[in-house]
Amino acid sequence: MDIKSKLEELQAKFEEAIKNVSTSADLMNLKSSYLGKRGSLNDVLSKMKDMTPQERQVVGPAAQKVKEFLNKEITQTSSKIERAEIETKLAKNRIDFSYTDKVRHDRLTSGGLHPVTQVRREIEDIFLSMGFEVLDGPHIEDEFHNFEALNIPKNHPARDMQDTFWLEGAKHLLRTHTSSVQVHGMKERSAPFRFIAPGKVFRAERTDASHEMVFHQLEGMLVDKDVSISNLIYFMKTVLKEIFKKDVEVRLRPGFFPFVEPGFELDIRCLICSGKGCSVCKKVGWVELLPCGMIHPNVLKAGGINPDEYNGFAFGLGLDRLVMMRYAIDDIRHIHGSDLRFLEQFKKY
Ligand code: DAH
Repeated sequence: MDIKSKLEELQAKFEEAIKNVSTSADLMNLKSSYLGKRGSLNDVLSKMKDMTPQERQVVGPAAQKVKEFLNKEITQTSSKIERAEIETKLAKNRIDFSYTDKVRHDRLTSGGLHPVTQVRREIEDIFLSMGFEVLDGPHIEDEFHNFEALNIPKNHPARDMQDTFWLEGAKHLLRTHTSSVQVHGMKERSAPFRFIAPGKVFRAERTDASHEMVFHQLEGMLVDKDVSISNLIYFMKTVLKEIFKKDVEVRLRPGFFPFVEPGFELDIRCLICSGKGCSVCKKVGWVELLPCGMIHPNVLKAGGINPDEYNGFAFGLGLDRLVMMRYAIDDIRHIHGSDLRFLEQFKKY
């Protein structure tokens, strides 16, 4: 057989072979068996050294043509295979947006309110019924509202306990507590008044079962004439009874907060373990839930209120802890975890 017929035969065989290739790996193998160093084409071409120059002039361009043909076929097949592979992948990962029986069966049709939102709204209702306004405040605060006006001057050790995230230039920060809304609230109204301010607060904290970098508080402030500590205690007990829909065991300890004097820590008997000790109450059986106290005269002054005429009390409720107590959630990290398996348990239909 002359060399030209051999080339024709090679091309015909190749055309047959490439029809059956369906994966990139097979295509690579085919390519190397025809065009590789030890491939069929080189095998045929190796015979050229025995040819006369005239013969070479004919065979050379013919061989070149075959080579170009093979290369073109391989490139085309390669992009076909690539496209097919992508399409298979896409088909596998396809999301069905249509409204099917399965969607209905899995109850994926309606969202639900986050447990913190549900509890927040409930508590807002309780306070609204007691004549309180509900205020909102900025997450980004300046030092004056977050610290100074609350009787926490620069270099006061209380600032260390509320390490937070500062914005560039260190003039603004993410508020460490909702107490900053006390300042806005006092300035915007004249005494007497009462309001609550629920919202997110931020701390540069190491997280664990009971600490998060972002959590929720609900601040409360009541300013009037001749308010007493008994008013404060009675008030707090009533609120907790409303929230838990039963009498909860509470204890009052002295607590230090620069913006109240005297200040208290109001703890409730841990409802997760009934006081036996668990990870939420850190094995002490009590949970700090409601720090509170009589508003410090300096705070009233910073808010433009005459402390000789008015006084009052303030409190900062830990909303996440309350939610955890209510639903027996044993790790605060679930609250911001966005895990649907957790959240779906709070859906209401
Ligand atoms: N702002 C305090 C904190 O985040 C909580 C607090 C304590 C708020 C006593 C109050 C209060 O209004 O009276 O630790």
